[in-house]
Amino acid sequence: MPPSHYISRLRLNSFRSYTSAAIDCNSSHIVLSGANGAGKTNVLEAISLLTPGKGLRRATISNIAQIDANGNCSVNWAIALTLETPNGPIDIGTGTSLEGVRKTRINGTNAKSLQEISAYIRLLWLTPDMDSLFRGPSGDRRRFFDRLVSTLIPDHSLSVSNYEKAMRQRNKLLSERMISENSNDNWLNAIEAQMAQYAAAIYFARIDSLGHLQSFVNQSIDEQAFPASQLSLTALFEDGVEPNSSASLEARLIEHWRKNRALDKAASRTTLGPHKLDLLVTNKQKNIPAALCSTGEQKALLIGLILAHARLVKKITSITPILLLDEIGAHLDPQRREALYDSLDALQAQCWMSGTDKILFESLGNRAQIFEVKLNQIIAP
Ligand SMILES: Nc1ncnc2c1ncn2[C@@H]1O[C@H](COP(=O)(O)OP(=O)(O)OP(=O)(O)O)[C@@H](O)[C@H]1O
Ligand SMILES: [Mg+2]
Repeated sequence: MPPSHYISRLRLNSFRSYTSAAIDCNSSHIVLSGANGAGKTNVLEAISLLTPGKGLRRATISNIAQIDANGNCSVNWAIALTLETPNGPIDIGTGTSLEGVRKTRINGTNAKSLQEISAYIRLLWLTPDMDSLFRGPSGDRRRFFDRLVSTLIPDHSLSVSNYEKAMRQRNKLLSERMISENSNDNWLNAIEAQMAQYAAAIYFARIDSLGHLQSFVNQSIDEQAFPASQLSLTALFEDGVEPNSSASLEARLIEHWRKNRALDKAASRTTLGPHKLDLLVTNKQKNIPAALCSTGEQKALLIGLILAHARLVKKITSITPILLLDEIGAHLDPQRREALYDSLDALQAQCWMSGTDKILFESLGNRAQIFEVKLNQIIAP
């Protein structure tokens, strides 16, 4: 059975290394094969931009428009795709107009925001950068987890960016003002109340998603190849007592931030809040922290998490997510590669994969269409 949602057509214009590129495909997996620098990741990044956020490279808009041989940057760039859904095909696209304004279109009509696309498409990705996720800074794990949450609850990414914006305003106000004990600063009061509202939405979306994800991880289909993770989030408050309602969380945060204005002013940052969260991951099979696992084992844990999350998204939203797996062959032994392909079959999702070596995908046979990427051209199979 084909996936309920899959991409059948992709067009790129003045995007990264591509002046123009086209892929027409069916519901099977897509493999992009080619030498280093050929343009494989650029294609996956283009698709990832059709979701709220900055895409898989977290790039700024000024970096994604094509830069020509003379170093001139194209004014407008565009990504368009056709998504096949149970209710028929949907055309979605994003890009900048000649005036340099970012626009998102759904079936030829301007969307109010990128968020609207989430009604049709959900994306999950893995990139080589994420190989060091468990050993790297907590901010990377938090962003990774927030992206998983946003794939389930699209408004989550908006709550996170609104919270961060309000927090920057608080930090700026603190730097500009004299803070005295018990000061009743209306501006700060208002901003902290706003931050607390966003913080509560973020906190409960994370807690809810983590619970669901853990139960899907526990039902892992291939424990041998992709060991299950035990997931937890660091406590929000130092006493470890977690709030059980939005109202109590908001009240505690507001009180904490008001009492700690002088301390936060001295630190030039807000020292407590959902922006400090870390995702703790343990390899359940071995009962050791993910950071202490081998590079290949860490990759296997990460793949296990993404596969479990894909099953969760499919179950809860009824939208089969599309997976973007960049350089997926790296660090996987042949057995794990086969297990991955079997898990993708079981998931019934379209998966876009890239690699420098076609051999790694040979066993996919007619389950995949292999596109050769050469000198920024995409050659159909
Ligand atoms: N804005 C841009 N304009 C033009 N070219 C760009 C732009 N941004 C990146 N490139 C170029 O795109 C090329 C292809 O990059 P990409 O990351 O897609 O390669 P890749 O095939 O994934 O390679 P690798 O196997 O090394 O990961 C690179 O040579 C890069 O310099
Ligand atoms: Mg690449």
